[in-house]
Amino acid sequence: MRQYSERMSRLTGSAIRQIMKLMSDPEIISLGGGNPDPESFPVEKIREITDQLLREKPTQMLQYGVTNGYLPLREAALEHLFRPKNIQADLENVIPFTGSTQGIYMILDMFIDPGTPVLIENPTFLGTLNVIKKLGAKIIPVEMDGDGMLMDDLEAKIKAHQPRLLYTIPTFQNPTGRTLPLERRKRIAELAAEYDVIVIEDDPYGDVRIKGTPLPPIKSFDTAENVILMNSFSKIIAPGLRVGAAVGAADLIQQMEKVKQGLDTHTASLPQAICAEFLMRGLLPDHLRTITAIYGERLDAMLQGLERYFPADADFTRPEGGLFVWVQLPGIKNTGKLLERAISECKVAFVPGTPFFLEETQGLDTLRLNFSSSTPQQIDTALQRLGGLIQEEYNK
Ligand SMILES: Cc1ncc(COP(=O)(O)O)c(C=O)c1O
Repeated sequence: MRQYSERMSRLTGSAIRQIMKLMSDPEIISLGGGNPDPESFPVEKIREITDQLLREKPTQMLQYGVTNGYLPLREAALEHLFRPKNIQADLENVIPFTGSTQGIYMILDMFIDPGTPVLIENPTFLGTLNVIKKLGAKIIPVEMDGDGMLMDDLEAKIKAHQPRLLYTIPTFQNPTGRTLPLERRKRIAELAAEYDVIVIEDDPYGDVRIKGTPLPPIKSFDTAENVILMNSFSKIIAPGLRVGAAVGAADLIQQMEKVKQGLDTHTASLPQAICAEFLMRGLLPDHLRTITAIYGERLDAMLQGLERYFPADADFTRPEGGLFVWVQLPGIKNTGKLLERAISECKVAFVPGTPFFLEETQGLDTLRLNFSSSTPQQIDTALQRLGGLIQEEYNK
């Protein structure tokens, strides 16, 4: 018998990755993943940048690098990503990592002992939820409404549990697409300062804004240096590069560096340098305009399809960006079962809502739809088929 560590028994693996395995059939229209549109990857620009980097800096690109990150990327992230969002920070406050998955993991690892109280949105991003579970935290869900976490409940739970950490995705949340309003952002920073809670502000979608006015991150209101903002290049350039960067208090960044030494020594230099060049050449704003124009059409197709083909009592979010729409279907008892029929009978996939919740009994009538990786036509077809199936279930 292999004897794994006790924490491995708490690791469930990603339900979404399991579902994705079922979908090898190329005829299936998938509204299930969370992938950016591959057609929109800036392939030519990346090729040109890569050629130049390998010509001009071959040793730096291929030799071991430093753990605290490729300096031009740290500078570029400050100049192009963090300071324009009103975040006061310097080089000592920035560390790149291997996808924000790694950055989030490092912070969780730094603060969670078995039984450590941690606050989360419920539902929340499954990847992070699984790590928090694995580390054995005492997980405390905060109540949400259509705009995200409720501040009264947050404060009550902070007082009751004295949590060390709060994990939040304030903009175009995964899975719900919800965005936390300005006043609540300020309030979170205030509460974090007052009760000494570390806030992990996970923001892979904030720059994927299709319409509406950008909101300042919670980090921009952080007077007590308790908020650490996680940025990712996955959704704004390409996820296969596996690059993200955090901005936070210098002591936190130093601790992350120590943890990172034992994880991967440093994030691969070439992808870090590609992201840095992309920013320094000023390519990001145009690229964001291109992808958000594409995603805007897809989001419209999704919202129209939901109106047209889903039952009148279906409740769904209307995000102004990101990748996801969240749907609640009061007439469906178990969207996991619906998925089995949807795949086999309609060749349509989505993600049932339950795995994003803390308890397996929650969110049984919810599902997450992704609009970034299918064309408007595919989205319309998929929702028409799915809507028909849901009507059948409603009529049973
Ligand atoms: C909320 C959230 N955080 C983090 C990640 C991980 O992103 P990365 O590719 O930067 O590791 C994702 C990916 O889908 C996500 O949705």
